Amino acid sequence: MAFTIAIDGPAAAGKGTISRAVAAHFGFAHLDTGLLYRAVGRRMLEGVPPIAAAQTLTAQDLGGSGLRAPEVSQAASRVAAIPEVRAALVDFQRAFARRDGGAVLDGRDIGTVICPEADAKLFVTASPEVRARRRFDELCATGVTTDYARVLEETRERDDRDATRADAPLRAAPDAVVIDTSALDVEAAVAAAIAAVETRS
Ligand code: C5P
Repeated sequence: MAFTIAIDGPAAAGKGTISRAVAAHFGFAHLDTGLLYRAVGRRMLEGVPPIAAAQTLTAQDLGGSGLRAPEVSQAASRVAAIPEVRAALVDFQRAFARRDGGAVLDGRDIGTVICPEADAKLFVTASPEVRARRRFDELCATGVTTDYARVLEETRERDDRDATRADAPLRAAPDAVVIDTSALDVEAAVAAAIAAVETRS
């Protein structure tokens, strides 16, 4: 039987960590939908027109190095504002959501556009400062040289682009449970997410 959990929220709010932990807890498959837009963004930076890149995307494009690089993050949020790019990626995401055995999808528009009928919806958020600090620490750990002020500025820029675009803007579905992770450690955030799913099912 299919059971779909939609987890949306802005960059670096803890969605990825929470989604992986929730999927492991319930024994569900997990799709980080940001990777689809990152893969299209990376190909755009290589010179491929973004709509063509989205229409020909394969599972192989979702791996490899560089998908988390800051320039790919910005490219991803730019291509994500193109309606034809979003349209080309819908079927893959919906097919994943319907798979037997349950699925967790995380992104920006899963509960609002991709899976409005999801069995459980979470909106994971945190203040821009906390999110920028987490992303900064992550980038430093992977050897990227940057500074906090720059990461904060890029976080705000991406939030703004994601929340103000006309097609599928970032917002919580009215029936989503909002989890603010600003003051939560990973264990507490994961526990809150699992509890929220359990009360919905
Ligand atoms: O989640 P992540 O930071 O990897 O997403 C990269 C970009 O992809 C986001 O800034 C957003 O513009 C876009 N995205 C989207 N819809 C999704 C997932 C990601 O528009 N469902």
